[in-house]
Amino acid sequence: MIETQPDARPYSPGLEGVVAAETALGYVDGERGRLLYRGYRIGDLVERGTYPAIANLLWTGDWDPDHHLPTSPVPAAVMTALRALPAAAKPMDALRTAVSVWGAAQTLDWPPTPEQARALTAFSPSALAAFARLRRGLEPVEPDSSLDLVPGFLYQLNGERADAATARALDAYFIVGAEHGLNASTFTARVITSTRSDLASAVVGAIGALKGPLHGGAPSEVVEQIHNAGSPANAEKWVRETIAKGDRLMGFGHRVYRAYDPRAAALRKVAESMEHKPDWLELAIAVEDVALRVLAELHPERALKTNVEYYAAPVLMGVGLTPDLFPATFALARHAGWTAHVIEQAGANRIIRPDARYTGPAERDLPA
Ligand code: ACO
Repeated sequence: MIETQPDARPYSPGLEGVVAAETALGYVDGERGRLLYRGYRIGDLVERGTYPAIANLLWTGDWDPDHHLPTSPVPAAVMTALRALPAAAKPMDALRTAVSVWGAAQTLDWPPTPEQARALTAFSPSALAAFARLRRGLEPVEPDSSLDLVPGFLYQLNGERADAATARALDAYFIVGAEHGLNASTFTARVITSTRSDLASAVVGAIGALKGPLHGGAPSEVVEQIHNAGSPANAEKWVRETIAKGDRLMGFGHRVYRAYDPRAAALRKVAESMEHKPDWLELAIAVEDVALRVLAELHPERALKTNVEYYAAPVLMGVGLTPDLFPATFALARHAGWTAHVIEQAGANRIIRPDARYTGPAERDLPA
């Protein structure tokens, strides 16, 4: 019988602090609260860019502020699958299913290309909008190719064109959601790509990873929590009770940021300047102040600041999306980053295969 060997190699739960890839796409400076896409500051990109321009920047490295990307039609096979889903299905599950069926109907040769990325990114908003209508008993709306991706998505969702300010607010959300380094879903996409699997499979896996509440599921819970807080006067009591119960305050804390999330700062500006802002925005700002103070008191060892999800919630509500569409809308925004990472991974590929430290029993005989 051979004993298992003690393994003295360092182990980092959650891979925290482990460098597992090189990327030229997004720079996340957690200490100083900075986010750059290919070197450009996120605040500048929100002010001067559009989502298609930012996606193109991520895919190709070129800055073309006039880059146009309309949504594309939903293939018949995908529409059949969406119609077969129960109306109660989660939009994230519908989107994951749609991308999977879309991938089955494509020829997605290796290596993945910006054209493949563009095609998938243009398809997914149409699929999500179609599902959102079907579950309400409404027929899907065909894309309007004169509209860019975000106003096109709103048009297919609502059956009418959004006003420019509303489309612009959601575009800002899509820009800040486009890319964020080696987060859990992007890592998932890179792991899948590293096996030389195809772009659609990588994005299906990424959607699955993003679905978890610790990653992309937070903004809908932010809305619920702010309502539960009730009023500014009750905020402190509610915050303390929530933490004492062992629950987390949604929209606070981040694996990388120890400073205020620059995406939250950009979205707070957008939320405050929106024409149709939700009536609970003032309450959200009051709850944030209290939450930051209480978190600092309870966790002096770890800076827990506001993350992007907190102000994503009022922006998404303000543009008329229902909370159950928030995670899937985040997934649409992240398509640019996921697919850019897929292309980058394929360009310098090595299969991702870390080790595990074995903690099970030593070698033994099966019971007689
Ligand atoms: N509310 C209350 N306490 C918190 C919060 C929070 N939001 N975040 C962290 N903490 C506490 C933890 O309970 C833990 O305390 P303990 O050591 O006494 O158990 C300590 O702070 C450290 O937390 P970790 O879980 O180790 O931090 P980690 O880096 O692993 O987690 C995460 C980051 C998952 C985002 C976490 O802060 C969290 O759960 N936040 C709430 C959910 C959320 O907002 N998610 C969206 C993230 S942004 C995005 O994915 C786009």
